[in-house]
Amino acid sequence: MKQWKVVITGYGSVGKQVARLLMLRQDHYRKQYGMEVILVGTARSTHGVYDEKGLQPSVLEAFAAEKKTGDMPFSGSDFIRSCQADVLIETGPSQFETGGPGLAYIRHALETGMHAIAVSKGALVVDYAGLSALAKQHGVSLKISGATAAALPTIDLLQYNLAGCEIQAVEGVFTGTTNFVLTSMMDEGISCEEAIARAQQLGIAEPDPSFDVDGWDTACKVTILANAAFGAQLTLSDIAKSSVREVTREQIQLWQQSGKTPKLIGSIRRTPEGLRASVELLAVDSAHPFANVKGTTKAIRVETDVMGDLLVIGGKSDPVAAAAAALKDLEHILSLQ
Ligand SMILES: NC(=O)c1ccc[n+]([C@@H]2O[C@H](COP(=O)([O-])OP(=O)(O)OC[C@H]3O[C@@H](n4cnc5c(N)ncnc54)[C@H](OP(=O)(O)O)[C@@H]3O)[C@@H](O)[C@H]2O)c1
Repeated sequence: MKQWKVVITGYGSVGKQVARLLMLRQDHYRKQYGMEVILVGTARSTHGVYDEKGLQPSVLEAFAAEKKTGDMPFSGSDFIRSCQADVLIETGPSQFETGGPGLAYIRHALETGMHAIAVSKGALVVDYAGLSALAKQHGVSLKISGATAAALPTIDLLQYNLAGCEIQAVEGVFTGTTNFVLTSMMDEGISCEEAIARAQQLGIAEPDPSFDVDGWDTACKVTILANAAFGAQLTLSDIAKSSVREVTREQIQLWQQSGKTPKLIGSIRRTPEGLRASVELLAVDSAHPFANVKGTTKAIRVETDVMGDLLVIGGKSDPVAAAAAALKDLEHILSLQ
């Protein structure tokens, strides 16, 4: 049976779940694709672990438990090269200013003929066009579901399900954490700070919640979707952006009295002046399809020329769902082999 080798960069909440699900599904890959899919390597910020025969769960557990060494210079790109894998799954930090280590890793993977699956957003925000061109040049795939709302189908919906249509507009509730904060404020009358603290207690928000609540996460997803699905050349600074921290209790009461619901909505729209992309805090009325999208639930609405409008609501917002989205991408690549 043909072997298919996987390397994961970043071994945190998502990376661990990718490894776990990948091992659980090995039998499925054999039956469905006739492939022996094995995880040969994974890397953290300071070092990696490798086994050409496939990493065993006990080795991965020990690797995850190791303390960071900190003082050893680590070249993730050299590590990736030494793994000689068929596909890289990138689950490191989303550094949207520089692309972070993920940008170098994905570039390196594509240049050396590996397929790449991005869950982190930084590399895609900084250079989607360059990475996509690199993938084409080397005859490999660059897949991005995990970075574009993960369990909520966005990029696949736009690129595959609506292929041939002209997409006129996309709008979405793309960040589960932000939606949880706004829903908690509306339903429980708590302040934004209290809602953020609750999200942190439940493990929904990061210790530093700014990436999500200040709209960066949604803006990253909008930038990537605009560039990948509309062929735009937007940078993050082209996206006007709101933060949910602007919302006060008084404002919430006014919206409640007028039957409105606040949502942080990322949108991309074709206009006569060109593509318009933004992240706005909007108060939608009760008839709007996003009005009842509550908690960490996400949603996307698409307007097309000939297939009409589409709405998808749901999909979990957690590391398991993000890992599953990356492995959906893996299956799409496997189905082409
Ligand atoms: N969590 C979610 O639900 C979710 C959903 C969708 C997308 N994402 C995206 O997925 C990515 C991972 O999220 P996470 O929650 O798993 O983060 P996390 O728990 O903080 O894990 C990040 C991992 O990246 C590693 N890392 C940092 N710098 C590195 C480098 N230079 N080379 C190799 N590895 C490096 C860290 O290493 P150490 O272990 O040594 O610190 C850690 O293992 C993020 O980009 C996030 O935006 C997350």
